[in-house]
Amino acid sequence: MIKVLMNGCNGKMGQVITRLAGESDELKIVAGCDINDDIKNDYPVFKNIMDCNVDVDVIIDFSNPAAFDKLIDFATSRKIPLVMATTGLSQDNIQRLKDASKVIPIFFSANMSLGINLVVSLVKKAAKVLEGNFDIEIIEKHHNQKLDAPSGTALLLADAINSVLQNKKEYTYDRHSQRKKRNANEIGIHSVRGGTIVGEHSVIFAGTDEIIEINHSALSKDIFGTGALKAAKFIYNKAPGLYTMDHLIQAE
Ligand SMILES: NC(=O)c1ccc[n+]([C@@H]2O[C@H](COP(=O)([O-])OP(=O)(O)OC[C@H]3O[C@@H](n4cnc5c(N)ncnc54)[C@H](O)[C@@H]3O)[C@@H](O)[C@H]2O)c1
Repeated sequence: MIKVLMNGCNGKMGQVITRLAGESDELKIVAGCDINDDIKNDYPVFKNIMDCNVDVDVIIDFSNPAAFDKLIDFATSRKIPLVMATTGLSQDNIQRLKDASKVIPIFFSANMSLGINLVVSLVKKAAKVLEGNFDIEIIEKHHNQKLDAPSGTALLLADAINSVLQNKKEYTYDRHSQRKKRNANEIGIHSVRGGTIVGEHSVIFAGTDEIIEINHSALSKDIFGTGALKAAKFIYNKAPGLYTMDHLIQAE
């Protein structure tokens, strides 16, 4: 049985993973960490991760960027593999994550769903085929409790497109402050927040007289939880390194 420390255990995703892990024969959450200890779980919950004295094989993190530095200190000092799912990380955080992956295996994905990772490969293919003739815009929609904007997944999609276009695209997040025509070299990224929308992403390739749109809708948070548990099984005994959904899909 793989022993899991769930960081952010009392959040929405932490509770989804608590339920899914409870149904698993291969993984068990043996400890949690959360600054909010209002929810009672059948494992001990530490407010400060540094106080966690339970033996664990892997950490799954769905918390907040504010938890990042302590989490990396804890994981690297104790050599515990990490599944990093929290979004809204700064460039400094991402650099620190890359440095930490020289010491421990880290699985990092802004979207743990297999479907979105298929969409990533489809938009890369479309961007390459349509290069030069189509304007690219991304629209993402999420529930009204989401803290970061644009979503980590919108940025994941934009970065994937940019990676096949020699990284020459610039991102435009908001048009209200600029009264000028769209520049051909940009990807527009737009955020909608409301209600209980789990997560919707549309990548629009708008050309002359034709439009191609690639969409993904998450209907429940379970898709992220299932992916994160697969990621935990995948990395808990790997060598140090930075692993992504591509590695997991190739291994399946
Ligand atoms: N990669 C993915 O597939 C994916 C999918 C869904 C959500 N997310 C991301 O995961 C994160 C959590 O999402 P959520 O919907 O569960 O949010 P949430 O706000 O419901 O839960 C976050 C939990 O983290 C706790 N927390 C906050 N600061 C902390 C700290 N310093 N130390 C320990 N715990 C702390 C909060 O108390 C809360 O219980 C967000 O960044 C979200 O964007 C990623």
